[in-house]
Amino acid sequence: MKNEFAQTPFTIEITEDGSPTLRLQLPTGSDGESMHHSGGAAAETEYIYKSVIEIALRRLPDLKMAVVGLGLGYIEISWAIACLKQNKNLQSRFISFETDEGLKKNFLEWLNGSAHSIYSDVCKAMDANSSIENVKEIIRKNLAEEPKALRGDLISDYDRNNSYNLICFDAFSKKTSESLWTEEFLTGFLKQSAHQDCVFTTYACTGALKRALKNNGFTLIERFRFKSKRESTLAVRGIFTSETTFRIS
Ligand SMILES: C[S@@+](CC[C@H](N)C(=O)[O-])C[C@H]1O[C@@H](n2cnc3c(N)ncnc32)[C@H](O)[C@@H]1O
Repeated sequence: MKNEFAQTPFTIEITEDGSPTLRLQLPTGSDGESMHHSGGAAAETEYIYKSVIEIALRRLPDLKMAVVGLGLGYIEISWAIACLKQNKNLQSRFISFETDEGLKKNFLEWLNGSAHSIYSDVCKAMDANSSIENVKEIIRKNLAEEPKALRGDLISDYDRNNSYNLICFDAFSKKTSESLWTEEFLTGFLKQSAHQDCVFTTYACTGALKRALKNNGFTLIERFRFKSKRESTLAVRGIFTSETTFRIS
């Protein structure tokens, strides 16, 4: 079978709920970090990101979302499914950051053709009833209306004049992507890029991130990590502060 990720430093693995993920291969040849929890890539995305996207979209149908780490596109596909469920003509938009050009190329080839069925598997894993063509269409529309929707390195490529109502921060952990998790970077990024009405969600929880969020006027909501007693991070500001329906476990 052709390895569609041979041009990238990633290999495919199947997680416990049957959904695919990618694992980083280190230059030494050993295994690096996986993009998702081994207990279920789809289930983890559903809890940490998709359930938050659905609530935020109900509150703000034209919200602008930033995704840090395109990876296999789980969050962008979740956004499309949520938009389709609420109303196909929502004015919501997203921008994604991804350093690996091979991942962006594969995602675009899938969007514009029939290659790379792994992304269709992601759609089905996120919603068995989803129409793959409708999901592709709404993501293509986003790319047409936001010509710079697929960006590169978050650190150098985030737009200082843009502001997001929803930030899905799905970077690799501090061990792999240390510079994305420093208090200095996070404080500056939030200051420049978080809209006054904003929700921030990530699977991780670090002291630096909590301080950066608090310094920027966010309120933290206690929330468990997926399949763990440790915490994840969900934070709200502005109109989202009164929202009480987020899943916390
Ligand atoms: C945990 S994975 C993202 C998984 C993805 N959200 C999904 O659901 O499939 C982290 C991703 O961040 C990308 N990445 C690493 N450093 C980055 C940076 N500085 N800026 C943007 N993306 C980065 C990696 O290449 C990887 O695809």
